[in-house]
Amino acid sequence: MKTHAIILLAALSLSCGSRREEIIFTPGAPWPDNNGVHINAHGGGILQRGDIYYWYGEHKVAGAAGNVAREGVRCYSSRDLLHWTDEGIVLPVVKGARHSPVLEEGCIIERPKVIYNSRTKKYVMWFHYEPANHRYDCSYSGVATADSPTGRFKLLHYGRQNAGCLPLNALPLHASRVYNPEKNYPGGSLPRHPDSLNLIARDFDGGQMARDMTLFLDDDGKAYHIYSSENNSTLHVSLLDDDYTNYSGTYARLFVNRFMEAPAMFKREGRYYLIMSGCTGWAPNAGRAAVADSIWGTWEELQNPFRGEDAGVSFRSQSTFVLPVQGEETRLVYMGDRWNPKDAIDGRYIWLPVTFEGKQPVIRWMDSWTLQ
Ligand code: DGJ
Repeated sequence: MKTHAIILLAALSLSCGSRREEIIFTPGAPWPDNNGVHINAHGGGILQRGDIYYWYGEHKVAGAAGNVAREGVRCYSSRDLLHWTDEGIVLPVVKGARHSPVLEEGCIIERPKVIYNSRTKKYVMWFHYEPANHRYDCSYSGVATADSPTGRFKLLHYGRQNAGCLPLNALPLHASRVYNPEKNYPGGSLPRHPDSLNLIARDFDGGQMARDMTLFLDDDGKAYHIYSSENNSTLHVSLLDDDYTNYSGTYARLFVNRFMEAPAMFKREGRYYLIMSGCTGWAPNAGRAAVADSIWGTWEELQNPFRGEDAGVSFRSQSTFVLPVQGEETRLVYMGDRWNPKDAIDGRYIWLPVTFEGKQPVIRWMDSWTLQ
């Protein structure tokens, strides 16, 4: 079977008498780490510190059992984005305790993302958290911090979002705080509109829901949490406090009733971009993209960024992160997950360059590619 490592060996070439390794990515192939083990960092994101990249993601085990957290969040480090050293579990689940209050084995920890706070000098991780045996009903976010990028991270708190706060773009009906509980609204892709029930009002006191999520650290040092809320129907963007460990209370609703999942945010030429997916469980769907001059909107939805065969299912992947290589907004890499819910540990990684046609992000399939 083709792997990243084998392709790399094939790519060894002689240059002026010295060996020069070409860094070749092969999307969807098994991707061995320094121990020869397929990288286990699903729904992940990358933090760059100096010339080292840290890849954080969900550790999954074999079989369908791997669809919930059995180990925790794993981290890898790399200088070239191809060769990754296993740094181990940096946020472990608690094993063995029958009534562990938090992060117990079998809980759900999804889409961990880490940013660095240069003022507090802390590495701050946010993740989607569901206590064990609650399916996706709690819709909490967990926050953990560490003094080093490889942890260990210590859980600070978890819970709902922005309790007691209305969004910047609240409608009069949200301020009325009248929830219509008559209608059941389990989420998914129901035709009913979230405002016909007033889900903002329903969750006003206890806090808004958050499932799929990402973090975005802006050039001015402000950090944002972006997540699927209101039973997945509507994306929220929340400004974090100066420590990046709590909400500031300022947030907005985006793409109301569009059921956006898997948000990945980046900035280019002063504009904010989102690559997202629709909401179809583990099954892939057509990617989505949007652009805005301000993070608070107005957001303009663009076309599916994927082009070519299998574009309708995002090359059988779902977005998780867009990486500016060496911080350069001209070299953007799409990171997606090819989930395998029957054997979660064998989920694959689809990394591809993001190019642009005007302000439309474009992602084309390539069997292999290099950063050059
Ligand atoms: C799609 C989400 O993007 C994943 O993170 C995960 O929550 C699955 N749904 C669960 O079905």
